[in-house]
Amino acid sequence: MALQSSRSFVCLLAFISLSCVNFLHLRAEASTKLYIVYLGEKQHEDPNAVAATHHDMLTTLLGSKEEALSSILYNYKHGFSGFAAMLTESQANAIAELPEVLSIRPNRAYKVHTTRSWDYLGLHYNQSNGLLHDSKLGEDVIIGVVDTGIWPESLSFSDAGLGPIPARWKGICQTGVAFSASNCSRKIIGARWYNNDLDSKDLQGEYLSARDSNGHGTHTASTAAGVLVKNVSVHGLAAGAARGGAPGARLAIYKACWGSSGSCSEAAVLKAIDDAIHDGVDVLSLSIGGNGYPEGSLNAVAKGVSLVFAGGNDGPVTQTVENALPWVVTVAASTIDRSFPTRITLGNDQVLVGQGINYLTEQEIFIRLFDGQSCDVDSLNNTDVAGSIVICHPNDVTSWNPRSDLVTSIENVIAANGVGIIYAQYTTNLLFVVEVCNNAGVICALVDFEVANQIIKYHDMITSTNSTSPMVKVSQTKDVVGPSVLSPKIASFSSRGPSVDFPELLKPDIAAPGVTILAAKGSAYGFDTGTSMACPHVSGIIALLKSLHPYWSPAAIKSALVTTASITNEHGWPIEAEGIPRKLADPFDFGGGNVNPNRAADPGLIFDIDPKDYLKYFNCSIGIQDACDSTKPLYYLNLPSISIPNLKTTVTIWRTVTNVGSTDAAYEVVLESPVGVKMVVEPPVLVFNATHKVQTFKVEFTATVKLQGDYTFGSLTWYDKEDHRVRIPIAARIVIQDFFADAS
Ligand SMILES: *[C@@H]1O[C@H](CO)[C@@H](O)[C@H](O)[C@H]1NC(C)=O
Ligand SMILES: *[C@@H]1O[C@H](CO)[C@@H](O)[C@H](O)[C@H]1NC(C)=O
Ligand SMILES: *[C@@H]1O[C@H](CO)[C@@H](O)[C@H](O)[C@H]1NC(C)=O
Ligand SMILES: *[C@@H]1O[C@H](CO)[C@@H](O)[C@H](O)[C@H]1NC(C)=O
Ligand SMILES: *[C@@H]1O[C@H](CO)[C@@H](O)[C@H](O)[C@H]1NC(C)=O
Ligand SMILES: *[C@@H]1O[C@H](CO)[C@@H](O)[C@H](O)[C@H]1NC(C)=O
Ligand SMILES: *[C@@H]1O[C@H](CO)[C@@H](O)[C@H](O)[C@H]1NC(C)=O
Repeated sequence: MALQSSRSFVCLLAFISLSCVNFLHLRAEASTKLYIVYLGEKQHEDPNAVAATHHDMLTTLLGSKEEALSSILYNYKHGFSGFAAMLTESQANAIAELPEVLSIRPNRAYKVHTTRSWDYLGLHYNQSNGLLHDSKLGEDVIIGVVDTGIWPESLSFSDAGLGPIPARWKGICQTGVAFSASNCSRKIIGARWYNNDLDSKDLQGEYLSARDSNGHGTHTASTAAGVLVKNVSVHGLAAGAARGGAPGARLAIYKACWGSSGSCSEAAVLKAIDDAIHDGVDVLSLSIGGNGYPEGSLNAVAKGVSLVFAGGNDGPVTQTVENALPWVVTVAASTIDRSFPTRITLGNDQVLVGQGINYLTEQEIFIRLFDGQSCDVDSLNNTDVAGSIVICHPNDVTSWNPRSDLVTSIENVIAANGVGIIYAQYTTNLLFVVEVCNNAGVICALVDFEVANQIIKYHDMITSTNSTSPMVKVSQTKDVVGPSVLSPKIASFSSRGPSVDFPELLKPDIAAPGVTILAAKGSAYGFDTGTSMACPHVSGIIALLKSLHPYWSPAAIKSALVTTASITNEHGWPIEAEGIPRKLADPFDFGGGNVNPNRAADPGLIFDIDPKDYLKYFNCSIGIQDACDSTKPLYYLNLPSISIPNLKTTVTIWRTVTNVGSTDAAYEVVLESPVGVKMVVEPPVLVFNATHKVQTFKVEFTATVKLQGDYTFGSLTWYDKEDHRVRIPIAARIVIQDFFADAS
């Protein structure tokens, strides 16, 4: 743990002052760890009085004031109060006993998880109507990005034509290595960095400033709010204009993730959220792993900031979704209508098609083909590999993870001096991996097992019947866009629900483009893939919605996104989820569906939530003391989705909707009940007028069988006569026993 010695701490709140003054015996001994201590919301009745009662106890517990100060690495003070400090376990235990301490836990570290995608989503740049136009490109909305920093020289962050910085902005431009005050502009209006608990290994090759050495933060920020940059491509691929979702929005950069691996400390992220609340951001985009950072994120949402998180890259395994909290938007990743066909020509002139990102023209010639089998070190231990293109196909598909296996196979082929690799895989998104091929000067193409089988058959025929060698030519990739590419599909890597922590929340909330997304990387442009790329798509769209509807709460905006999302593609086919096997997508893959920004601008009805309601469901473990109620199931929250993990006989749920469409409107319900469940909605018609803008309806779920079951899915949709379609996804599981483990 690298500790700076010259930090000066201001203990702002009395609670924190108390803690600062009394950490007298704290020593940076080997057994200390970073702990996050949460004291609740910022407002307290009389902190001094409460503080005094623990003064004596703390004095005997702890040591010198100077060491206490150097032990506190971050103070949280704007949206919530608390601190992160180096403590021994016994000190942590003693602090946990203090009544003003709502929670204390060890710090954790997480990982950070174009531009065709915006046109694909219907946000055309020059259109004279639609969300992008009506929101004036998200003008003056402030998007905070908690990530690995930013590359301010990228053309995507030009501030040409932007007006003055919004007057409500209260942030700073923190300077540092290779980052001067002039690096902030009317586009990048603020920058901060958090290195108090940095590990020295994360500092290698790093700038001690908001400058982005990793590339991830520049990619996500330019995806959310980059301006239009013409004539961009990756070596001719995906050529066109690059731009973010809200080109008129301003960016506030919070660098809390460091190093080539993009390691984000929870304590640093919480400090970034705390600062973002103070600075005045409207949307906070967090393409990072974690648990949703509840103390920070809840207080941010209570102050009107929308928080958008990546859902994680651990799919297609179920129960892997991260950042699954009711007040944030959790984003899954989908594909767009671009594919990268790469022609593979065999020596007998047979032409096959794989996928690649292959721009190495000098090797577009016939080259000897080698059958590398599983492409482990043994199967490539052959002098014929050198100078050959190697076809890799695992012998045992069932016990095989293509994501890591492809990387190993490429490394093995390169080590054996092969010049190319054709890799057989089931449907999954691996194109982002093959960038390492281009960097190493090796040709890569990905094929399915059927194509691989034809290549191997040709190889075996030539080697068995002819004295000549089998030959193959891999052509340069030509990307294809448009309706001929089956899309969107939920990406195989996109983490799936249900949430392990909160099965009564339907997560993820929504899917957005996250596969082979072109955006800024340093001063150039590059592809990246992950829910990290999907997250800033939703952040950019929220910036547009905030510009159009400045008074909508974060819950209202999330409702607009979820209830209008697409569940079919443009041909009307249901959206698929990639995986093993591929299947139709269900709400645990994509929540409400694939994001549909133009529809979200005019959702008809919204499911709104007073932030205080969230606390009632968390037994006061976070947040305002006086809002404690009971431990009601989370499915009673007025969310735009319903998940009932334990339906025994009957569960009755209420939802309240607010009309944000025409004043006089009538909506009729259409139900799609989960298999084995009877749903009844009362009333089945909702009528709105000038005095009745808000209506409540009841949904009764009844199990029609006695069964220890599995989740089944359905939906509840309100339709009016003006083409509004307000759909909420539903998941329900019938159980007999109280406790049910989903393992048979
Ligand atoms: C759209 O706008 C861009 C940028 O102003 C411009 O270069 C392009 O020609 C326009 N395209 C159309 C179809 O109007
Ligand atoms: C950012 O600051 C550095 C100096 O720290 C300077 O070299 C660079 O040109 C600046 N970039 C921009 C876009 O102002
Ligand atoms: C686009 O960029 C390429 C190479 O980066 C260049 O050769 C070409 O002239 C540019 N086209 C336009 C219209 O600027
Ligand atoms: C390759 O095979 C030869 C014999 O066939 C063996 O001696 C050698 O150790 C092998 N090399 C590796 C790296 O496995
Ligand atoms: C064997 O090689 C010759 C010359 O390259 C070719 O004409 C012939 O078709 C090959 N035979 C088979 C079975 O591929
Ligand atoms: C609610 O909180 C109280 C006090 O912190 C605790 O004793 C109780 O077990 C909690 N109840 C549940 C259901 O978690
Ligand atoms: C709205 O509808 C309610 C119930 O039908 C009715 O009592 C009320 O008068 C209506 N208000 C207006 C302004 O039409």
